[in-house]
Amino acid sequence: MAILGTDIVQARQFLEQGKLVAIPTETVYGLAGNALDPDAVLSIFETKARPSFDPLIVHTDSLQKIERWVKEFPKPLQALAKAVWPGPLTILLPRKEIIPDIVTSGLDTVGIRIPNHPLTLSLLQSLDFPLAAPSANPFGYISPTQATHVNEQLGKLIPYILDGGACQVGIESTIVAWANNQLQVLRLGGLSVEALEDLIGQKVILHLNQSSNPQAPGMLKSHYAPRKPLYIGDLEALLKQHAGKRIGVMSFQQVLPGVTIQRTLSPQGNTHEASKNLFRFLRELDQSDAEVLITEFVPEVDLGRAINDRLRRAAYSE
Ligand code: TXA
Ligand code: MG
Repeated sequence: MAILGTDIVQARQFLEQGKLVAIPTETVYGLAGNALDPDAVLSIFETKARPSFDPLIVHTDSLQKIERWVKEFPKPLQALAKAVWPGPLTILLPRKEIIPDIVTSGLDTVGIRIPNHPLTLSLLQSLDFPLAAPSANPFGYISPTQATHVNEQLGKLIPYILDGGACQVGIESTIVAWANNQLQVLRLGGLSVEALEDLIGQKVILHLNQSSNPQAPGMLKSHYAPRKPLYIGDLEALLKQHAGKRIGVMSFQQVLPGVTIQRTLSPQGNTHEASKNLFRFLRELDQSDAEVLITEFVPEVDLGRAINDRLRRAAYSE
C-alpha cells in the first residue's frame, strides 16, 4: 500500500521523479503528477483507468505563474480568480503549447485551479511545475474525501498519499469559462451559482450538457457511482418498494425510524454540511451489507444543485 504522511519533501521527490502522489484539496483528493511531463500524465490516466477524452485540471499555487501556461486570462475571470482562489473553482483558459496535449485531451483550453489546502499549497510552492490532478478514484466511482479512501482503491498503484484529513467542501470544483462576455458554468461544484452571480454581478449561463462522450466530462451521465443500485425519490415510498431487501438509506435531514443502515447528510438542513458528507456516506453505504441504496434530492439551493447533480449521476443506469 502507499505511504500515508504529511512529508512535503518526500511528496516533492516522488513527483520530481515522474511518479504520482495523491494530494488533499478542499474539494476531493487528487491524483497528482507533473502536468508538463506527458509520461507522468499518461500514468495518471492508466492508474485511474480513465478514458483519454476526459481532460485533467492543472493545479498551481499562484496567479503569477499562470501566464506561463495560458495565452490569455480575460479580466473578469482574473477578478473572479482573485476573489475565490485558493478555492473550489476551475477556470478554462486558452492553453500555450507548453501544456501537453494529453492533459487537455487535445482541447485548446486548459482547466486551472488554485486549491485551498495548506499542505498542497506548500507542496505546489516547492515545485517548479504545476500538478495535473483528477479526483483520486478509479474512473466513474465515488470521489475520495479522505486519505484512506484513496489508499483503499489506488494504494497499490502509487507510492505516497499526502494526508490532509477530511476534505472540507467534499464535492469537486465548479468549472467555468468566459464566452460572449458571460460566465459559462460547465460543471456545478463547490462554489454555488448564487455565490458566482454575487461575485460577478450578473447571471451565469449554465452549460451542463450530458452525453456519453462529452467535451466536458465529469458530465458523463453515469459518474460518482456506487457499485450497489442507488434509487432517488421519496424515502417512505422507496422503503415500501424495496421491502424485504436490506436497504441503506441516505437522507437529507430526517432520521427514519426502524432503519438500521442509515446516514443523514445534514440534520440542520445545511447544504454545505451535506456536501462535505456526501461522498463519504455513499462510500460507507456501498461498503455496508445493504443490498440496495435509497436517497432523496436535497433543496435546489446553494450547494444543493451540485449535490443533486452528483446524486443523479450516481444513480444513473442504462
Ligand atoms: O475539485 C476538483 O476539481 C478536483 C480536485 C482534485 O481539484 N478535480 C477533479 O478532477 O474533479 P476530475 O478529473 O475528476 O474532473 C475534471 C473535469 C473533467 O471531467 C472535465 O469535465 C473538466 O474537468 N475539464 C478539464 N479540463 C477541461 C477542458 N479543457 N475543457 C472542458 N472541460 C475540462
Ligand atoms: Mg472525477
